[in-house]
Amino acid sequence: MCIFVTGATDFIGSAVVQELIEAGHKVIGLARSDRGAVKLKEAGAEVHQGSLDDLDSLRSGAAIADGVIHLAAKHDVSDLAGSLATDLQEPSVDTSAATSRAVRLESFGGPEVLNVREVPVPQAGSGQIRVRVTAAGLNPMDWFMTSDADTATRFGLSLPSGFGTDYAGIVDQVGDGVTEFAVGDRVFGGALSRAVAAYVVVDVAGTIAAGGDAHHTPDGVDDRTAATLAIAGCTASAALAVVNPGPDDTVLIGGAGGGVGVFAVQLARLAGARVIGTGSATSADALRALGAEPVTYGDGMVDRLRALAPAGVTAAIDLYGTDTMQAARELGVPDERITTIAAQVDGITPANGANAAPGAIEEIARLVAAGQLRVPIAASFPMEQIRAAVELQAGRHVHGKVVIDI
Ligand SMILES: NC(=O)c1ccc[n+]([C@@H]2O[C@H](COP(=O)([O-])OP(=O)(O)OC[C@H]3O[C@@H](n4cnc5c(N)ncnc54)[C@H](OP(=O)(O)O)[C@@H]3O)[C@@H](O)[C@H]2O)c1
Repeated sequence: MCIFVTGATDFIGSAVVQELIEAGHKVIGLARSDRGAVKLKEAGAEVHQGSLDDLDSLRSGAAIADGVIHLAAKHDVSDLAGSLATDLQEPSVDTSAATSRAVRLESFGGPEVLNVREVPVPQAGSGQIRVRVTAAGLNPMDWFMTSDADTATRFGLSLPSGFGTDYAGIVDQVGDGVTEFAVGDRVFGGALSRAVAAYVVVDVAGTIAAGGDAHHTPDGVDDRTAATLAIAGCTASAALAVVNPGPDDTVLIGGAGGGVGVFAVQLARLAGARVIGTGSATSADALRALGAEPVTYGDGMVDRLRALAPAGVTAAIDLYGTDTMQAARELGVPDERITTIAAQVDGITPANGANAAPGAIEEIARLVAAGQLRVPIAASFPMEQIRAAVELQAGRHVHGKVVIDI
């Protein structure tokens, strides 16, 4: 028998397709994306290109089959294949009972409180998508937020808590009313303190802090890289927007080789500015590779900056604390051309990733896809080694980003 299957590319659908093929049936699966089509072909099914939103494509798929298994219900197609139609709007597999792995905290504290646990697979509700996470990028805020109960409360976290915010992966379940994403789409984004997990559910219209967010991962951007973009990319973009560098500028960037620094340096260079980046002596080559002229931080930095830029520094971004900001003031940079992401200082406009301009993250992803911006991955770890990954980043001498492979 030839059976047309909708919802054939998520994990329930894949199991159904496999069972039907093993039972000797010919399967035609509905696929909206190229990725879904490849998955179906690999499983031995034929592909019917179309979408759940397109009733004509459902009708034409059903018309060439003897029967329909409708796993992803948006429209009633039970009339499309007569008495052979099998509407499985209520899946026979109870996914709410299934479990998956996630990093969980039963108390707040250092890396020692991070454990990999079996947790229920989250379900996408209305306006939400579920993502099968393939990579999660770490940021200092992840371990800062969960370091003690008071800090966690300020960020709205409670126990048991998840961990990590930046993620990338593949949509595997779509809730009612979602039209922007389909099963099989590659996505990336942020979900506050719950990204280091096999599955994450995010609100399509949410923000990183409220419900999570998602963006299409462009071709040419691998998942590890996509998992580093949301927090650091938005923060660098927000910092650049405050000082607005251009070709006439010499921009001083403090902590230039770190997670945010790698984006800030390259964005300032793309804007045409000369960039001087602070780092330890061992970071000099990494900073040069990004397009920055290295200067070591610590005692005497202002003198070294005067020697390196006798015509002066015109703007500054402090990504570490206040030293760079103070050095910039000593060098005569006006306060309105200085920003910081890691401190609150009177007279200085702070930059925050949450305030990045609309579209900033898509622009960062586009630059990465175009090969104009690269993200050095300092290290990657399996989920089981989350403690080691956090310890590495918390040492604060990482060049680029730390990623967890899920
Ligand atoms: N406001 C926001 O929206 C926002 C968003 C993201 C991050 N943040 C904050 O911004 C800071 C930077 O984040 P990140 O992800 O870039 O961190 P990161 O990756 O941990 O930064 C590591 C970098 O810091 C440099 N560094 C270490 N000691 C330094 C010093 N004394 N002076 C100058 N640089 C020093 C290191 O350079 P060497 O290896 O050469 O020593 C390394 O390249 C963190 O405090 C983070 O919490 C704020």
